[in-house]
Amino acid sequence: MTPSPESGIHARAVRVLFLGDVFGKPGRQAVKHFVPKLIAKHGIDLVVANSENSAGGAGVTPESANELLSCEVDLLTSGNHIWAKREIVPYLAAAGSKQLRPANYPRGAPGKGRGIAQTPDGRRLGVVNVEGRVFMRNLDDPFQVVEEEIQLLKADGVVCILVDMHCEATSEKNAMGHFLDGRVSAVVGTHTHIQTADERVLPGGTAFITDVGMCGPWDSVIGVKKELVLQRFLTQRPVGFEPARRDIHLQGALVDIDDATGKALSILRVQERLPD
Ligand SMILES: [Fe+2]
Ligand SMILES: [Fe+2]
Repeated sequence: MTPSPESGIHARAVRVLFLGDVFGKPGRQAVKHFVPKLIAKHGIDLVVANSENSAGGAGVTPESANELLSCEVDLLTSGNHIWAKREIVPYLAAAGSKQLRPANYPRGAPGKGRGIAQTPDGRRLGVVNVEGRVFMRNLDDPFQVVEEEIQLLKADGVVCILVDMHCEATSEKNAMGHFLDGRVSAVVGTHTHIQTADERVLPGGTAFITDVGMCGPWDSVIGVKKELVLQRFLTQRPVGFEPARRDIHLQGALVDIDDATGKALSILRVQERLPD
C-alpha cells in the first residue's frame, strides 16, 4: 500500500492479469484450469483475455466468450479474427457486452473497442482494443483512434487504462507503447501468439510488452496443427486449418497499477503448462 500525497488516503494497487489470444478448446481449457489458481495465488483483481481465436481457432462465438467469462475473466478483447463467426455480431452489439472488438474499424461496425472492468470494491480498469495496420487491413488510424478512446475513458473518471494493441509488426506495437507512455497504465501486444521477452515499465510509467503470447497448444504452428500449416507453406495451395491439441500453455502478463495515479508499478510475464 502506497500513501497518496494528494488525497491523504492509501492508494491501492490494482493487479491485472492479461491473457494472450485464447486458441480453441485447448486455450479455453488452459484458462479454466489456471485462472482461478492464479487469482488465488497472486491476489489478482481483474482478468482480461484476448478471445479472437477462442472458437475453433478462428473467431469468437457467444458460447466461447461466455465460457471464458465464466472462468473469472472480466473482459474480452479481440482482433482481426473477430468477424470469423457471424453469430458474434449481435453479441458484440448487445448493451453491456463484455466482448470488445478493435476500436478502429470504420464507423458502423457493430460493438465497441472500449470497456470498463470493475472490482467488487469499485476499482475500475478501462480497456481499449485497437488493431495495427502494418501487414494487416487498412483500418482507421489506431494511434488517432486510441487517443480518442482514452479521452472518453478519462472524461468518465477512469484512471487505470490498459490498451490491447493487436498487430503483426513489432515496430508498430513498440511505437504504440512509446506513443502512450505516461498516458495509460499498460500497452500489451497480441496477435502473433509468440510471447516476447521485453516486458518493462517505460520511463513515463506505462507497462509494455510487445506480445503476451497465446493460451493454446504449443505442438503446433501458432495454434494450428503443424502438418496443415506445413502443407500450405510447402505447396502454396489452400489447406483448411484445425486447432492442434497437445502441449497446452497459458501465457500472459501480470501488471500492477497504482490506482491513484494510473502508473504501472510492475509487469511480469506469465507462462504455465497444463499437465498432460
Ligand atoms: Fe490471434
Ligand atoms: Fe489476430
